[in-house]
Amino acid sequence: MSAPIPSPLDPSLWLAVDHALEEWLAPADAALDHAVEAAARAGLPEIAVAPAQGRLLEVLARAVGARRVLEIGTLAGYSAIWLARALPEDGRLVTLEINAAHARVARANLDHAGLGTKVEIKFGAAVDSLDAMIAAGTEPFDLVFIDADKENCARYLEQALVLSRAGTLIVVDNIVRRGRVIDAATGDASVDGVRAMMDLVRSHPRLKAAGVQTVGAKGYDGLLIALVGEAPDARSSDPLNISLRHNAWATRELLRVCTKLDGAQWHRGFDIGPGSLHDTLTHIVGAMFRWADRIDGPSRTMHPSIEDGTRRTPAELLALLDAAAADLEAAAARARRLGLATELDVTLGGTPYRLTLGAMLVHATTHGMHHRAQCLNMLRRLGVAGVSDALPDLDVLEWESKRS
Ligand code: SAH
Ligand code: DHB
Ligand code: MG
Repeated sequence: MSAPIPSPLDPSLWLAVDHALEEWLAPADAALDHAVEAAARAGLPEIAVAPAQGRLLEVLARAVGARRVLEIGTLAGYSAIWLARALPEDGRLVTLEINAAHARVARANLDHAGLGTKVEIKFGAAVDSLDAMIAAGTEPFDLVFIDADKENCARYLEQALVLSRAGTLIVVDNIVRRGRVIDAATGDASVDGVRAMMDLVRSHPRLKAAGVQTVGAKGYDGLLIALVGEAPDARSSDPLNISLRHNAWATRELLRVCTKLDGAQWHRGFDIGPGSLHDTLTHIVGAMFRWADRIDGPSRTMHPSIEDGTRRTPAELLALLDAAAADLEAAAARARRLGLATELDVTLGGTPYRLTLGAMLVHATTHGMHHRAQCLNMLRRLGVAGVSDALPDLDVLEWESKRS
């Protein structure tokens, strides 16, 4: 270059580089040119993504193998053309637009680009269109591009998440706004809207997001590129699931401690509970099998009891524990489907009880607790160095803190 290049802070340089990138990477073609000209003729604002950003949208859509794309904010359909071009033959782009004139221009532009059959323009306020899609149980999208009014940004992100699956990419335009995004006191609803969205992203368990500052033909702005993860695991927040898994974990921990004992210690009789560590842990696991059977209902034949006098090693009981825990989890899942209020008649030690499935599950997941306390007492009394003086803490907090 013969003339000195402008300062990197000079927007004229950003523009020049954007044009160069455009020539190298995102050359205009008849359909894109036509869309830009039609938008200008119709007097639409010049706020479509820049060509290099359009190419970025196309690349991202191809990278995730998008078959279904959702766009919020159509304008003249310029970004829609880039996105729709990334779609396979049977792919679909749904784009939302509140302005009838914009929607009309976009329809013509997309038809002109030969993408008419792939693109559906939903006319109306995006919040309403999104609610309607959610209510209709619309299939999740693979990529969502949020680029409408910034005031509703956080709301759009929340709605987009409902229409997403693990692996969906959500791209949000205009998150920097010449740096104004870091100012909490602009009083500008569009800046506040982006800030609210960023706060949502920060604390959202399903999102891993990157923010990219951009300069170029559209000045100084930025994009959010967020990857949707697995839905928060009900298994780790639902009290019943926590109880089921904690019960199995705590019993497993005790059995692991017992693998350090010799046979005499493992079978030594105490005047506590069922009598020995072997008998007490066999009882804990045996009861888990019985409760799984009972919760499964009277039509389920009871497994033969493992409390049949057979002597097992801690390792053998660990294997049985895994089976019992799985049975109990399956029974709990079935009970949930039936409704935890469902009542069953059970006879325990000759006494008839009428119990809800909920009560049975709480009993099944807490029954082991006092027996484990008995085991800890026995282990302490055994006086085995390295075991009796290093007993595990088996409460739920301990379990939670050890989980990854
Ligand atoms: N994605 C386009 C640019 C969109 S500009 C492109 O890059 O080519 C933002 C668009 O969002 C405008 O057309 C505007 O009319 C639309 N819009 C604004 N508020 C909206 C709302 N509440 N619901 C749906 N669309 C809205
Ligand atoms: C502006 C730019 C955008 O990309 C947009 O979606 C809305 C407004 C603007 O420059 O004002
Ligand atoms: Mg935009």
